[in-house]
Amino acid sequence: MMHTEEHAGGRLLLARTGGVAALTFNAPDKLNAMNMAMWEALAEICARLAQDDSLRVLTLTGAGESAFVAGADISEFGESRSDAARADAYNRAVDRAEHALEAMPVPTLALVRGYCIGGGLALALRCDLRLARTDAQFGITPAKLGLGYGFDGVASLHRRLGHAVTADLMFTGRRLDAAEALQKGLCDYVYAADRFDSDCAAYTETLASNAPLTIRAIKAALVELAKPQAAQDHSAVDAMVRICFDSQDYAEGQRAFAEKRAPVFKGR
Ligand code: COA
Repeated sequence: MMHTEEHAGGRLLLARTGGVAALTFNAPDKLNAMNMAMWEALAEICARLAQDDSLRVLTLTGAGESAFVAGADISEFGESRSDAARADAYNRAVDRAEHALEAMPVPTLALVRGYCIGGGLALALRCDLRLARTDAQFGITPAKLGLGYGFDGVASLHRRLGHAVTADLMFTGRRLDAAEALQKGLCDYVYAADRFDSDCAAYTETLASNAPLTIRAIKAALVELAKPQAAQDHSAVDAMVRICFDSQDYAEGQRAFAEKRAPVFKGR
C-alpha cells in the first residue's frame, strides 16, 4: 500500500511503495520552483532515507505535466538572497540538499517532464540518472539572472558534462531539448510521452529487484568517485563488496541462474 508524507507545507511529497521512495516537487503553479523550505526538507528527507536499509531506489519528479523543477523560487530571492550574507545562508541550504541527494546509498533517478532549469537541473544532475520525456527542456540560467554560481555547483556540472558542455550551458543560459540533452549527456534516456510513466516504472523496478547489496556497493564506489581523489575511501567499498560474496543473495543469484528463474533478492 502506498503511504504519502507531506513536507515543506505540501510542496514536497514523499511516497513509499515497497523498496521505492518517490519524491515529488509539488508546486505546479510555479513550475515546482524550489523555495527554502523545500531545500531544507529535501536535505532532511534524504538524510532519513539514507538510514533505511530496506530502501532500494529513490525517484524524483515534478508534479503536473509542465516541469520537473524550474529552478530556485525567484520570487523568494528579494528576501532570502538579497545580499551576499543572506545568499550564503541560502546557498548553504541548497548545498546541504544537493550533497544529501548525491550521497544517497541507493540509486537515484530524476524523472523529467517539461522544464528542468537552473537549480532543477543541478538537482537532476546530483541523481545517478536522468530519464526524460520527449518534451523535457534543460537549461541553467545564472548568467541570465546575474547571480553568482559557487565552485561546487560548477564542479558538479563539470564532473558530469565536461568543460565545453558546462561552458556552453552556463555562458549562454540557453535551453536544450531532450534530443540535444541526450546527445550532450544531460539525460540518459528519452521516452515517448505515452510510454514515459510505464518506461520509468519498468526501469525503476529493474533496479529495485536487482541484488540490493551489490547495487549499494556500486553506489558507494560512485559516491566516493565523485570526491577528490585524496578524500576517497576505498576501504568502506571493499568491505561492502566482501559482504556481497558472503550474502544469501549471492547464493540465490547462482541458484536462480541454474534453475532458469528470476532471482528473489532479500538484501542479506
Ligand atoms: N521561481 C518562481 N516562479 C517561477 C519560476 C521560478 N524559478 N519559474 C516559473 N515560475 C512561475 C512563473 O512566475 C509563473 O507564475 P505566474 O503564473 O504567477 O506568472 C508560472 O511559474 C508559470 O511560468 P511561466 O513563465 O508563465 O511559464 P512559461 O512556460 O512561459 O515559461 C520558463 C517557463 C521555465 C521558461 C520560465 O518560467 C522561466 O524562465 N522560469 C525561470 C527559470 C529560471 O531561470 N530558473 C532558475 C532560477 S535560479
